[in-house]
Amino acid sequence: MSIKVGIIGSGSIANERHAPEYHHHPNVELFLVYDPNPDRAQKLVAKHGGTVAASWQEVVHHPEVQAISDCSTNEMHHIITTEALLAGKHVLCEKPIATTSEGAQAMLAAAKATGAILMVDHNQRLVIAHQKARQIIDSGELGRILSFKTSFGHKGPEHWSINKTNATWFFKKNRSALGVAGDLGIHKVDLLRYLLQDEIVQVSALTAVLDKKDEDGLPIEVCDHMVCLLRTQSGAVGTASFSWSYYGEEDNSTILYGERGIMKIFADPEKDIEIIAATGERRVERTGAIQTNDHQTNSGVIDAFIDAIQNQKTPIVTGKDGLIALLIIEAAMESAATGKTISLQQNIG
Ligand SMILES: NC(=O)c1ccc[n+]([C@@H]2O[C@H](COP(=O)([O-])OP(=O)(O)OC[C@H]3O[C@@H](n4cnc5c(N)ncnc54)[C@H](O)[C@@H]3O)[C@@H](O)[C@H]2O)c1
Repeated sequence: MSIKVGIIGSGSIANERHAPEYHHHPNVELFLVYDPNPDRAQKLVAKHGGTVAASWQEVVHHPEVQAISDCSTNEMHHIITTEALLAGKHVLCEKPIATTSEGAQAMLAAAKATGAILMVDHNQRLVIAHQKARQIIDSGELGRILSFKTSFGHKGPEHWSINKTNATWFFKKNRSALGVAGDLGIHKVDLLRYLLQDEIVQVSALTAVLDKKDEDGLPIEVCDHMVCLLRTQSGAVGTASFSWSYYGEEDNSTILYGERGIMKIFADPEKDIEIIAATGERRVERTGAIQTNDHQTNSGVIDAFIDAIQNQKTPIVTGKDGLIALLIIEAAMESAATGKTISLQQNIG
């Protein structure tokens, strides 16, 4: 029996990943689609199936809808996803899980109350190179990871958002809230937790608005750059850099420095993973490139979400993972605002 799915928000991520991946899934029927701009919902339905809904509440409360992708703008996630979970629907919520950790906590409580699945779209965990990297770390080949360096940057959301202008909501404080930190940074702090199987316990960060201008030619209200220093529970230290102004090509690289060697992931376009042993011996693992804004491949996220629903599994990225990633980004924002190093208490129940 097909799972009937609703998509709320019909912008770029819905068009590039959620809708096509549902469309091609053998056990899914794309059933209802909503966007406040009805033309966008109509176009998505024409290409991938389903019917246009008149409101997000119609999708959330439709008795036949079993699962929902919340692809709305950041400030709506905690409202839409919480109501959907309380209505008993399984939800794949886009990242960041919410714009505040209080909002995210309410979402987790809603999932707990009804037993519905809450998965957060930290798709970097499902990138084949990252899964391979995790296996290599787990095998002990590199020994203990002592240090790391990760980056995520591209030319900016005004080139990606369905509204490809400087008026995009990504640049507005009341909608994106966290700027590049909540857009790209949150992916990488989640990836570090996944790869290292370790918690980030200390953060200091700098943010800057260096480059992007809004529709009036004024500097945007949220950061377009963030650079972080991070310490993990096991004592590893490293850096993480995020930017909306890496022109020319995306940087989605992660380098891990272990006791017995180095692993470079997407640091060289010719080498998905390169291992350099302490002896100097080099090995390349070819896994396929990561999705970029200009080159989309199947993210595997929809398959994982549907698999979790059908087989009553814990999803690969839980609501709690989404909350912890947000807490790390909130700590980084606090550090940038106060000039202090922030210690994280992962006391989230
Ligand atoms: N996982 C990823 O790699 C990834 C990549 C890009 C975006 N995202 C996330 O996906 C979400 C959507 O981003 P996007 O890139 O599609 O942006 P977008 O600007 O392309 O589209 C956003 C859409 O949301 C709609 N919208 C606005 N208010 C809404 C509301 N109240 N209810 C429902 N829909 C509403 C807009 O009309 C628009 O069509 C964001 O939270 C973003 O952070 C995730």
